[in-house]
Amino acid sequence: MVNFSLTLLLLFTLLLGHGIVELVEASDHHQSADPTSQPYRTGYHFQPAKNWMNDPNGPMIYKGIYHLFYQYNPYGAVWGNIVWAHSTSTDLVNWTPHEIALTPSDPVDGHGCWSGSATLLPRGKPAILYTGLVDSKETQVQNLAMPKNCSDPYLKEWFKYENNPILSAPIPINATLFRDPSTAWLGPDQRWRMAVGSLIDNREGLILLYTSKDFEHWIKTNNPLHSEKHTGMWECPDFFPVSTGDQNGVDTSILGPNVKHVLKISLFDYHRDCYTIGTYDVNKDKFIPEEGKVGGVPGLRYDYGKFYASKSFFDSAKNRRILWAWVNESSSWGDDIKKGWSGLQTIPRSLWLDKSGKQLVQWPIVEIESLRENQVDLPSKFLEGRSLLETSGVTAAQADIEISFEIKEFDKAEVLDPSWTNPQLLCSHKGASVESGLGPFGLLVLASKDLQEYTAVFFRIYKGQNKYVVLMCSDQSSSSLNNKNDKTSYGAFLNVDPVHEKLLLRSLIDHSIVESFGGGGKACITARVYPILAIENDAHLYAFNYGNEKVNITSLRTWSMKKAQINIANPIKSVASDESDKF
Ligand SMILES: *[C@@H]1O[C@H](CO)[C@@H](O)[C@H](O)[C@H]1NC(C)=O
Ligand SMILES: *[C@@H]1O[C@H](CO)[C@@H](O)[C@H](O)[C@H]1NC(C)=O
Ligand SMILES: *[C@@H]1O[C@H](CO)[C@@H](O)[C@H](O)[C@H]1NC(C)=O
Ligand SMILES: *[C@@H]1O[C@H](CO)[C@@H](O)[C@H](O)[C@H]1NC(C)=O
Repeated sequence: MVNFSLTLLLLFTLLLGHGIVELVEASDHHQSADPTSQPYRTGYHFQPAKNWMNDPNGPMIYKGIYHLFYQYNPYGAVWGNIVWAHSTSTDLVNWTPHEIALTPSDPVDGHGCWSGSATLLPRGKPAILYTGLVDSKETQVQNLAMPKNCSDPYLKEWFKYENNPILSAPIPINATLFRDPSTAWLGPDQRWRMAVGSLIDNREGLILLYTSKDFEHWIKTNNPLHSEKHTGMWECPDFFPVSTGDQNGVDTSILGPNVKHVLKISLFDYHRDCYTIGTYDVNKDKFIPEEGKVGGVPGLRYDYGKFYASKSFFDSAKNRRILWAWVNESSSWGDDIKKGWSGLQTIPRSLWLDKSGKQLVQWPIVEIESLRENQVDLPSKFLEGRSLLETSGVTAAQADIEISFEIKEFDKAEVLDPSWTNPQLLCSHKGASVESGLGPFGLLVLASKDLQEYTAVFFRIYKGQNKYVVLMCSDQSSSSLNNKNDKTSYGAFLNVDPVHEKLLLRSLIDHSIVESFGGGGKACITARVYPILAIENDAHLYAFNYGNEKVNITSLRTWSMKKAQINIANPIKSVASDESDKF
């Protein structure tokens, strides 16, 4: 451990305090014609070979093959011309690209094939429900597509159902606010249910529910599955059961006493994915949030950083529910166009109900650990107040790190002002540079040697009314000398008791993304960062404690991450050769 020398401490204080020094525009410097050899290109996150990607669509496992479709612009690095691109995998780590699965065609989706979901019908036959844009005014309908050849485990070709659209917006729903059909589930009455996101009376988000006997003809139920005032448009609904007894996932159609139901919505106006735990009354077709559960804007979130339009599926091969989500860029449009791509998917996460029953827990799928190499373990030790500990021996720009803290002395913890209810705001006021009694302590990732650049993921402990409150932050304010980036700080309160539990933090670092899991996955924060100095071999990784009280690091384990094979084989052919589809 390096105790700060006076100069280093001064430098640290100075840099943390003043944030950003004068910027050298270096992005051109790293510019390269080959989008796969850039400093911000990721090594093990899902992304297409080039161009724009947003929502994950229709994830499923079919005949032992994992499928991921995604919203894609074949013609550029910004949003537009949206099609369903398609990749498959046997391990959820390495991905093979296929031909575009759904391209716009008049009259049912001539202006875009927007988000939707896959459902496995009885006898395992897959079906896709998706939103079609029928005109330039963004009028939305729901469509059905089926594989051309169900014997093909790669489901390479799809055809659109001849009687599309299967749904148009019902009165009084505004047809430009009617989208993103969910995976369907089967009720005990042998009727399918499908949820569609919408908005009514300007500010009330709602989930319309439809039922069907044959998957082709759908009838709207009298009441929405759920709605909430003052939340804005609801997109990408995901509705599924979670087991109350264990961490196993269950099929989307399971009902009964051993499950609770989760309703996830993507709040369009707030760019956040919120979920509520409750029960599902299948006879009334109503979702009933658990007592005391707040939904909507102040409710629980899967991830408190950049994370949107998520979708889960039941992996019947391994009995788990897996979550995917789109991670938007935080760079300027100009920089996105220069680098030739935009958008990542999170590392797929297993998802289950916490023992408390009050929230979900997420953890990167175990398969991702196959990319770990060069394990470095540090013996447990105290991290004194205002000290820094570099972990070397790993490729810090592409790494996995797990650290565990133990706190014995709580006397110095600051008192939590009862008005501090917004963790993101608290993290932006109290970034890594603001010292307190207990914290900030955590990790500085993608850090330059001189700490001109770093992303800080850390905890801070407060004295609450009758318990200690743990705040988890991801502070991007010093992440890059390029000031064109969005450097918003993110934060969450972490539901752990630091008196009796260790404070765990895991971060998956991949060049321009940092996915952090606090408390074993009870709070997740994903950030996009674009350092100019801290790239490739010039990236460093530190544990830090900028608080007054020492904390004990009980374990610190880091790995370099190998590069995964993602969408590099067989570049998608139809795009280059078929310009006529452009609209
Ligand atoms: C359907 O897929 C199977 C398995 O890939 C293949 O053997 C068969 O030739 C395909 N049928 C058609 C009509 O393409
Ligand atoms: C429907 O929603 C769009 C926004 O998507 C809005 O511009 C339009 O004015 C709305 N139409 C009506 C009739 O309210
Ligand atoms: C994506 O990120 C950019 C830059 O931070 C932001 O301006 C934009 O609103 C984001 N879009 C969504 C849908 O989150
Ligand atoms: C830190 O925690 C480890 C693991 O619990 C323990 O073995 C060690 O004694 C602690 N270190 C100190 C200095 O208390």
